[in-house]
Amino acid sequence: MDTLLPPGFVFLISVLLFFSPSNANQTINKCSNATYGPFIQCLLANSIPHSLLYTQGTASYSTLLDFSIRNQRFNTTRTPKPLAIITPAFECHVSAIIGCCRMNNIEPRVLSGGHDYEGLSYVAFGTPFVIINMQNISSIDVNTTDNTAWVQAGATVGELYYHIAEKSKTLGFPAGLCPTVGIGGHLSGGGIGTMMRKYGLASDNIIDARLVNAEGKILDRESMGEDLFWAIRGGGGASFGIILAYKIKLVHVPQKLTIFAKSYNLSQNGSLVKIVSQWQDVAYRLDVRLFIRQFIQVSSDNKGNRILQIKFESLFLGEKEKLLSIMRENFPLLDLQVQECQEMSWIETVQYFAGYTNGELLRALLERKSQFGYSFKAKSDFLTSQIPEFGWKKIWYNLLRSNATVYMIIDPLGGKMDEISESETPFPYRNGSLYNIQYLVAWVDGDQRVVDRYMDWIRDFYEFMTPWVCLVYTRTRDEQGVREQDLVRL
Ligand SMILES: Cc1cc2nc3c(=O)[nH]c(=O)nc-3n(C[C@H](O)[C@H](O)[C@H](O)COP(=O)(O)OP(=O)(O)OC[C@H]3O[C@@H](n4cnc5c(N)ncnc54)[C@H](O)[C@@H]3O)c2cc1C
Ligand SMILES: *[C@@H]1O[C@H](CO)[C@@H](O)[C@H](O)[C@H]1NC(C)=O
Ligand SMILES: *[C@@H]1O[C@H](CO)[C@@H](O)[C@H](O)[C@H]1NC(C)=O
Ligand SMILES: *[C@@H]1O[C@H](CO)[C@@H](O)[C@H](O)[C@H]1NC(C)=O
Ligand SMILES: *[C@@H]1O[C@H](CO)[C@@H](O)[C@H](O)[C@H]1NC(C)=O
Ligand SMILES: *[C@@H]1O[C@H](CO)[C@@H](O)[C@H](O)[C@H]1NC(C)=O
Ligand SMILES: *[C@@H]1O[C@H](CO)[C@@H](O)[C@H](O)[C@H]1NC(C)=O
Ligand SMILES: *[C@@H]1O[C@H](CO)[C@@H](O)[C@H](O)[C@H]1NC(C)=O
Ligand SMILES: *[C@@H]1O[C@H](CO)[C@@H](O)[C@H](O)[C@H]1NC(C)=O
Ligand SMILES: *[C@@H]1O[C@H](CO)[C@@H](O)[C@H](O)[C@H]1NC(C)=O
Repeated sequence: MDTLLPPGFVFLISVLLFFSPSNANQTINKCSNATYGPFIQCLLANSIPHSLLYTQGTASYSTLLDFSIRNQRFNTTRTPKPLAIITPAFECHVSAIIGCCRMNNIEPRVLSGGHDYEGLSYVAFGTPFVIINMQNISSIDVNTTDNTAWVQAGATVGELYYHIAEKSKTLGFPAGLCPTVGIGGHLSGGGIGTMMRKYGLASDNIIDARLVNAEGKILDRESMGEDLFWAIRGGGGASFGIILAYKIKLVHVPQKLTIFAKSYNLSQNGSLVKIVSQWQDVAYRLDVRLFIRQFIQVSSDNKGNRILQIKFESLFLGEKEKLLSIMRENFPLLDLQVQECQEMSWIETVQYFAGYTNGELLRALLERKSQFGYSFKAKSDFLTSQIPEFGWKKIWYNLLRSNATVYMIIDPLGGKMDEISESETPFPYRNGSLYNIQYLVAWVDGDQRVVDRYMDWIRDFYEFMTPWVCLVYTRTRDEQGVREQDLVRL
């Protein structure tokens, strides 16, 4: 890891020491190039080469910006654009950029994988801003002697998984499913995934970190202190500094794991509500090696019929015979058959959950381009009690009545998640939280009116969910609200 100070850096720090908000207006002029010229000069004076600067006049500015935007909701002509995108190559570059941003009152936005749901890594409203794109600060050093790794913020979880598997068949890491998610945003915000019931969140497995603070200083766990170290393990990175790297604890995975997925269409299976209820009753308290999530997708077919599909997707950290016996005992209604189970290595399960199921090479995990190219809006809840059968029916009815493509992804917690106290990290949903639900509506571009309609829809739906997540429904009133024939008709 490079920690050498560039020439000019010492100069920069001394300028920063004398910089205070009271003389800020002398250097700021929000909409003119007055801030911009000195800012660029500052970067150049601090050894940031031209080749790492993409200004609005640079040919590849748009390509790089486009590549950064992962939620197409923020790919419009109205979306504010950065004055520049900077792709630091060394840690010390990041310190210098922070210094130049402060001196010129330009807001830095830091982007690692670009998957922020609200575009926070590449959009700022009402203030001139630049993007610090971390993608070239992305080395990964896996140590199989003490089962740890240093991973730089700009790496993706797919790259991390790939490099772990390259070194060991029995080590893994419990983070998210989507391989293009960045370490910088993902680990600082938590990181839920298929192994969390056994090993907790990605952020529960961080043991050290390197970060640039607002003064441009590079700190590690020891020099930042335990409070700041606490905050950057679930509290969101950008609020506290710029994460350069995390040191993580790798976890043991067996040689052979088992996956299965079973889907149902609502109209086909009258007993679906029974299956969902049984799943809900057991999924959070099953053997900690077993993760079964419920993925609901509602969309329209080409004839305009609304289709509600429920898929149970599962990872078991063990072989299929054991899985089948756990399923027979705890979740018999799913009626899992041996031929529905596939045994594979941990890295193959990673590929499977990433959607690479057509024999793609492992190298596909190194691909940084996201497969998810829509506009979307998502919200989430944590369930602390079970939704009754009539509640599920109401939920389905409500989803079917919309016009949109909507998803509800329900991940079971429990296991290791229960063992960590709610104050140990900024992520408090521990013992007592049974499930995490994500609601997501996705669409392919559209004018503002269309966008507004989807945004209104998900806000209404979130509101509609309140009784089920806050236990304020009344059995008699809400039970009457949904009739079997409403569901069948849809
Ligand atoms: C398709 C998709 C799938 C996903 N799957 C999962 C999943 O399985 N599990 C899960 O838990 N989450 C998942 N997420 C959510 C994802 O973990 C978060 O959005 C995460 O914050 C993304 O990190 P990033 O680096 O890719 O994003 P970015 O947009 O780069 O960053 C996200 C936030 O973190 C800040 N940030 C980024 N880098 C740094 C840094 N180096 N230092 C300080 N702050 C920084 C940004 O400024 C921004 O506020 C998914 C998101 C998408 C879009
Ligand atoms: C900077 O200018 C703005 C607008 O002109 C003004 O409202 C603000 O008080 C000024 N701030 C300082 C610190 O002088
Ligand atoms: C800033 O400079 C660029 C390139 O020199 C120019 O195209 C642009 O119009 C200027 N913007 C303003 C607000 O003056
Ligand atoms: C953003 O929008 C432009 C113009 O509509 C389009 O050409 C581009 O492909 C979009 N970007 C992405 C990443 O899809
Ligand atoms: C990252 O580094 C590589 C190799 O030095 C370079 O080719 C590439 O252009 C850099 N990427 C960005 C976005 O600057
Ligand atoms: C791996 O970890 C061991 C034990 O902490 C240490 O001695 C060794 O130097 C590390 N290897 C590398 C390449 O960092
Ligand atoms: C559900 O319906 C769709 C569309 O009719 C069909 O393509 C799909 O195969 C069905 N899924 C199941 C699990 O039956
Ligand atoms: C519905 O699900 C139950 C339980 O898994 C199963 O026994 C039944 O065959 C299914 N019916 C249809 C039509 O798929
Ligand atoms: C569905 O679309 C129709 C016409 O396109 C519209 O009138 C109706 O309001 C839409 N419903 C919802 C819930 O958005
Ligand atoms: C979780 O909370 C329950 C109820 O308070 C308690 O009985 C149980 O022991 C707790 N579990 C853990 C792992 O702390």
